Amino acid sequence: MSNLPPDMDPVAILEKAIADAPAAIAAASSLEELGTVEASLLGKDSSAGQVRRSMGGLDNDLKPKVGAKLNEASEKIGALLSDRRMELEALETEKRMAAEGIDVTLATVTIPTGSIHPVQQAIDEVVDIFVGLGYRVATGPEAELAYYNFDALNTPASHPSRWESDTMYLDWGDPEDEVLLRTHTSPVQARWMETHEPPVYIVVPGRCYRKDTVDATHLPVFHQIEGLAVDANIQFSDLKGTLLHFAREFFGPQSEVRLRPHFFPFTEPSAELDVSCFLCDGGEPGCRVCSGAGWLELLGCGMVHPNVLESAGYDSTKVTGFAFGMGPERLAMVRHGVDSMKHLIDNDLRFLERF
Ligand code: DAH
Repeated sequence: MSNLPPDMDPVAILEKAIADAPAAIAAASSLEELGTVEASLLGKDSSAGQVRRSMGGLDNDLKPKVGAKLNEASEKIGALLSDRRMELEALETEKRMAAEGIDVTLATVTIPTGSIHPVQQAIDEVVDIFVGLGYRVATGPEAELAYYNFDALNTPASHPSRWESDTMYLDWGDPEDEVLLRTHTSPVQARWMETHEPPVYIVVPGRCYRKDTVDATHLPVFHQIEGLAVDANIQFSDLKGTLLHFAREFFGPQSEVRLRPHFFPFTEPSAELDVSCFLCDGGEPGCRVCSGAGWLELLGCGMVHPNVLESAGYDSTKVTGFAFGMGPERLAMVRHGVDSMKHLIDNDLRFLERF
């Protein structure tokens, strides 16, 4: 645009721009065109732009009037532009949707999201409780050496659990290179201690295998969660206190625990831990959770046998420890009142959808 004619009143120029703007803006039929119209109304070469640039040369008594008119022009024209921009944006969106053929009223396809399996839920919860106590999570191989599954855990060569009728072997030989499917998560105790200095506070969730036929209380493939604490001066009372804490976190603050003497090769003394029935709280004859016993068998535990510490290279005169092993399948069944382990592996959605 040319420079302003020297004889024209800048206020009149701006008034004309304000008057012309509505028609010019309404005529823009796309966002691109609106951009051009904006430049022609307010850009630096527009009449308003030229007035703005000429301000410095105006008489002092004219300046406030022209300045006020300039503001009015840019506010009024700016408002018109932004209204039109919104209209054009909506129009363009509509046009694009029509072109792309999106029908927003169409019913959506629901993708089933699934849920976490109750056994995995139990594993996650148990691990969380021990991580809350400062334990680390350790894992180990499912195809394990007989050495770690048995020998490093003080289990003699003659022990019946080593028989082929109980354990699935992948390879025969001597224990150092005999490979089997681990029958428990306890071998990770030995593996961890071999590669870490005490203190040790670990939980080990994982899959285990035994030559069992599926029935209400057995699965050939199942899970365990191992716990191991080794430190200076760990005592039996630490074991009991830790497991009481666990039971109260998992089953509720009213829970009590009791220990019954038991035998495991890798702990001495060894015990089984029962937790008071969370449903009837002890002794309702027909209780569907404990059948009236008042107690639920929960896990095996004990003080780590000195031979296990020594095999891993620890000095059993300097450190002591406790260990425990529990079955998350059993935890899930007890908690949800599931009467057969089979339900846990049936993949029946009517069962799984309840969790
Ligand atoms: N490994 C044992 C089992 O499979 C469970 C167990 C018992 C683990 C006592 C332990 C323990 O660490 O101290 O039956």
